[in-house]
Amino acid sequence: MKNNPLIPYTLIMAFGIALIFFMSFEGAADKNSADGDHAGETAELSGEDIAQKNCISCHGGDLTGGGGPSIVGLDAEHIKDVALNGTESGAMPPILKNEAEAEAVAEYISGL
Ligand code: HEC
Repeated sequence: MKNNPLIPYTLIMAFGIALIFFMSFEGAADKNSADGDHAGETAELSGEDIAQKNCISCHGGDLTGGGGPSIVGLDAEHIKDVALNGTESGAMPPILKNEAEAEAVAEYISGL
């Protein structure tokens, strides 16, 4: 069957599908860079704000325990390490990506 009249439509459809995939990957990449910018901004937050936003859901409103254990007064280096990398058992996932944030929150919590 030569010169099937559907061929141009099929090509346009294939192009459209390819475009949808292209645009969704582009969108995902944009979203990641937007998140990155945002993480830069949150470095301005105080340790307390970061803890309120990222830790109390599991460690309780005053960080003395909830789904996770009490973490008040622990060694700052340890808190920073766990916030960035999670615990060895994996029961707590890595929460923070930003070193400065992890340091600020560790200092705040270890001083409680
Ligand atoms: C998704 C729930 C969850 C969130 C959110 C969370 N944690 Fe945890 N965390 C846990 C659990 C569960 C454990 C116990 C894990 C284990 O024993 O492996 C834990 C353990 C810890 C420990 C180790 C305690 C010890 O005795 O060694 C530290 C430190 C810690 N979390 C700090 C933080 C900080 C700081 C934040 C916020 C940046 C945070 N966690 C957010 C669930 C969470």
